Amino acid sequence: MTILVTGGAGYIGSHTCVVLLNAGYDIAVLDSFPNSKPKSLQRVREITGKDFPVYAVDLLDRQGVEQVFVENQIEAVIHFAALKAVGESVAKPLTYYHNNLTGTLILCQVMQQYNVRRFVFSSSAAVYGAQERVPITEDMPLAPINPYGQTKVMIEQILQDICTADPSWSVALLRYFNPVGAHPSGRIGEDPNGIPNNLVPYVTQVAVGKLKELRIFGDDYPTPDGTGIRDYIHVMDLANGHLKALEWVKERTGAETFNLGTGEGYSVLDIIHAFERATGVPIPYQVVARRPGDAAVSYADPSKAKKLLGWQAEKQLIEMCADAWRWQQNNPNGYIE
Ligand code: NAD
Ligand code: WQD
Repeated sequence: MTILVTGGAGYIGSHTCVVLLNAGYDIAVLDSFPNSKPKSLQRVREITGKDFPVYAVDLLDRQGVEQVFVENQIEAVIHFAALKAVGESVAKPLTYYHNNLTGTLILCQVMQQYNVRRFVFSSSAAVYGAQERVPITEDMPLAPINPYGQTKVMIEQILQDICTADPSWSVALLRYFNPVGAHPSGRIGEDPNGIPNNLVPYVTQVAVGKLKELRIFGDDYPTPDGTGIRDYIHVMDLANGHLKALEWVKERTGAETFNLGTGEGYSVLDIIHAFERATGVPIPYQVVARRPGDAAVSYADPSKAKKLLGWQAEKQLIEMCADAWRWQQNNPNGYIE
């Protein structure tokens, strides 16, 4: 039996493929590479010493998706494939709703057709928007503030409705906080297109000399040093969370939501200082205006995942920075050599 990993060539997907293969699972990857490169999967093979089929198929191509189910005995699906750039989703809502929603609908329809009913979904802390209280628990009201976050809320609802209609389905909705870092080998990591939107890839690109300086988006937040606080989680911890979620959906039915974070908040300045400590490379920065839509503070209460999945994050901030740096230093242009 095989685990289908959609979006497996992407940042979190590739790390999860490594964890799944090392745990002894057979996998098949579906990815049309709108935001990734096939080379990441070559590196996954290299790290694990294991081979697996890759389907260069768009989720919007139903026949292509069906082919994957015809050619493999799929036992469960881990669904990473989505577009994820918040700013772009505001500019191109139709593209985001079409890709993320229609892609998921087609995937679930094909699963239904082939009697596959175990599903692990990549949701996001984006579903919470800017909450007033922290830590954030799974039962807090959902308040996404951009089309990207809306797609995650809508897909969560669709998956819950599927479970209600057919109690043989089993779905884990995983709300990731801020994934950072890379596999300790430095062979796979985050490879954003163009100028990074997210803090840690921006910092590593400043460190490697590709960008001049970091812009800190506001130092007048009601936080101890005035900069925004987030829950950064090492991508390998996150990947391990998928292994636990997979075990969960194999043993139970129904839909369950889990925050995947560390439960600890760090400010932008904390990240800069930790990165400088981990690497010895200074990060020049200037403070600019707040970025619209940013919350002051966001971090998870991850206790539900610990209690029900038996999972918790283990890696510290310093390791996240060191691993992100090893990847960036060894691959200054990402997967393009
Ligand atoms: P990513 O862009 O690196 O990976 C997504 C993968 O899906 C890419 O390889 C992309 O090429 C592929 N893809 C997109 N649309 C597709 C389609 N229609 N058909 C086939 N393949 C398609 O992003 P990531 O950071 O690895 O994120 C993975 C998942 O986790 C996404 O669903 C994202 O929304 C979610 N998530 C990410 C973060 C984060 O900060 N990285 C946080 C929370 C949630
Ligand atoms: C972190 C902190 C910024 C860049 C985003 C998505 C969210 C989820 C995770 C997908 C904030 C500050 C950033 C920079 C800065 N993705 N910052 N200068 O916004 O918490 O979450 O990624 O699901 O949906 O919104 O992450 O890394 O962009 O920002 O000062 O150049 O760093 O203001 O305080 P965010 P981020």
